[in-house]
Amino acid sequence: MKTYLKCIFYSLGITLLFCTAAVGQNTKVIEVKTKSTSLVYAVDHNKRLVFQYYGKAVDAPDSFLRQQAYPKPDTNRDFSYEAYPTFGLGNVNEPALAVINADGSLNTELAFEGTETKSPQPGVSETVIHLNDRICKFNVELHFKAYWAEDVITQWAVITNNENQPVNLRRFASSFLPIKAETYYLTHFYGSWAGEMNVTEEKLENGIKVIESKKGVRTTQTENPSFILSVNTPALENAGDCYGGALAWSGNYRLAFQVDEWKRLNITTGINPFLSSWTLKVGERFTTPEMIYTFSSQGRGQVSRNLHDWGRKYGMVGGTKLHDIVLNSWEGAYFTFNENTLTGMMDDAAEMGIETFVLDDGWFGNKYPRNNDDAGLGDWQTNTQKLPDGLDYLIDYAHSKGLKFGLWIEPEMVNPESELAGKHPDWIVQSPGREKITWRNQLLLDLSNPKVQDFVYNVFDSLLTTHPGIEYIKWDANRHVEQAGSTWLPTSEQTHFWVDYTKGLYSVYERIRARYPDFVMQDCASGGGRLDYGALKYHNEFWTSDNTDPLSRIFIQYGTNLIYPPVGTASHVSTSPNHQTQRMAPLKFRFDVAMTGRLGMELQPKDIQGKDRDFAADAIRNYKQYVRPLITNGDLYRLKSPYDEGGWASQMYVSKEKASAVLFVFSLEPHLRGVFPTIKLNGLDTTKTYQIEEINPNGRSRFWGDGQTFKADYLMNAGLELYVGGQYESAVFILKETN
Ligand code: GLA
Repeated sequence: MKTYLKCIFYSLGITLLFCTAAVGQNTKVIEVKTKSTSLVYAVDHNKRLVFQYYGKAVDAPDSFLRQQAYPKPDTNRDFSYEAYPTFGLGNVNEPALAVINADGSLNTELAFEGTETKSPQPGVSETVIHLNDRICKFNVELHFKAYWAEDVITQWAVITNNENQPVNLRRFASSFLPIKAETYYLTHFYGSWAGEMNVTEEKLENGIKVIESKKGVRTTQTENPSFILSVNTPALENAGDCYGGALAWSGNYRLAFQVDEWKRLNITTGINPFLSSWTLKVGERFTTPEMIYTFSSQGRGQVSRNLHDWGRKYGMVGGTKLHDIVLNSWEGAYFTFNENTLTGMMDDAAEMGIETFVLDDGWFGNKYPRNNDDAGLGDWQTNTQKLPDGLDYLIDYAHSKGLKFGLWIEPEMVNPESELAGKHPDWIVQSPGREKITWRNQLLLDLSNPKVQDFVYNVFDSLLTTHPGIEYIKWDANRHVEQAGSTWLPTSEQTHFWVDYTKGLYSVYERIRARYPDFVMQDCASGGGRLDYGALKYHNEFWTSDNTDPLSRIFIQYGTNLIYPPVGTASHVSTSPNHQTQRMAPLKFRFDVAMTGRLGMELQPKDIQGKDRDFAADAIRNYKQYVRPLITNGDLYRLKSPYDEGGWASQMYVSKEKASAVLFVFSLEPHLRGVFPTIKLNGLDTTKTYQIEEINPNGRSRFWGDGQTFKADYLMNAGLELYVGGQYESAVFILKETN
């Protein structure tokens, strides 16, 4: 005979259901819910917190309460999967937690203690589940934040040592998710400098697939701590069960996907424990980074839109605000400029409708002038030879032209040839007695050291205090960690370096954001080397790649926007031939591609003259008037993938009310004469009609129905055959609701 006690918090989206249960049954169900998804745990008869379900919303807590796991052969354990598996409780898979206890023993057995819920802000609920080891005074809190409207659930763990001696953490994952399906298809991202976020999908077979970084800094240049998982079918854009995941951590990460002997997929994500064992002192708490999850039963398109909605509202700064169009000086001037070069660029920028001028690398260093990348890094004083009138002269000049002024810094790094390296050799990451290996002629400052944290904060703060006219900072980081080692950390805690570096960086960001909450900051690490939701939380945008070639960018931004919001994706028009690939591409193609993200420019604007200049000014006007609001707050619908056969790419952004949209179509290669793409639109309101108008036409129309009105039904089912077929041809259309 079971007795049920039901207590439902609909406003929080959380249901708790208790019953008295027989052996083998659950005693309590804990549901974390969003608008369309449910994540369900149960407490079994043995007080174990076990995973039940994550997927499309299910409103049947009583069924989960009755749900039973079958017995595992050859053991008195059953097949249920712990919510946060430890080593030592019948778990033979990857553990989320592995601890060497104070008495040297290796086992941890977590038992359910209690749960609490709160609502930190409207639309967000937080569930905390308390677990205690059955023998040691060792506690784990599992935190779940549910974002109702966005269908996102984030998860992290807090581990506390209440023993009277330190313990040693060997594994300390943020999240564990055991998914059950027939087959698993993992989409993940790989790349290199100037070629980030390539997309690859593979079927997972038995064994462990690991996506990780051990680079410490610039960790996302080669892989990214994010993925899309489609079950039972390779990922489809508009159908099928799909999970999206991203770890909010800028240091070493490890995402492990283990298909176990029972064909279940165990996803364990968090900080990479590689050489990172952590001594947890008496009374100390260790908080893992947040793992962000979403689910959709309507394919990966909706997974991306959920992450974008969550990202711009909760995962970045100013994600729902219209951003400025930037001219960055890097590809137009590199290290070689004087005041006239820069004021000339500002004149042209203002004329074309640009809103912020950003002075990139090369403006600092006197004893060791920053005239190339081998000297001066660390010496953040204005170079008096290049800029005799100082930064304020440039700032005032920008203002006189109606432009805001931005500046590049790389405060975590130092050239050996710098005053800073001479003054504070102990601040440099190093291994005793070993030669320091440079990358891009530079070394890394040890952000685990609070003095270095102060220094880095002060680079930022004193620049803004001395020059309050600066309204944008590009924060760069151009090397990773090698020969990890800290003169600050004691010998026994050298393995803390990786985590302490990242936490040190975050503590600097925290101080900056406490003082400058809305200030515009770009996240850059040799391009997209720090693209993760841990860093993005403190930034307004990220430099997607040093590769500004429009064809490359179609691929890079396609991958990037599977996970990260287009509004953060800095996307600059550069010169032709492109400096990274030497490829030639028409100005229209370069603009049209850059307009799919956070439009900016990165060239010597003097080089754009005559008709091209008119075209640029016109495209910038169109972007401001029609496209920018849709990139900022609209929904992305991918229509044609550049990875598909056919040689086209197409996507659209639709306003939330479905009143307007922008459609982009790109031809990536020369097509046979008369071969044109048919583009079936998506995301429109099927009851509406829309007027279509081409923008940036540059002399010729690419649609027979330009200016005409069409039913959404026609646009989405019959589709538009567009006159776009030549190599690097493109078209952009605005759709406006007419009824
Ligand atoms: C990195 C950045 C570039 C530029 C240079 C300056 O490579 O990614 O955009 O700022 O540094 O040195």
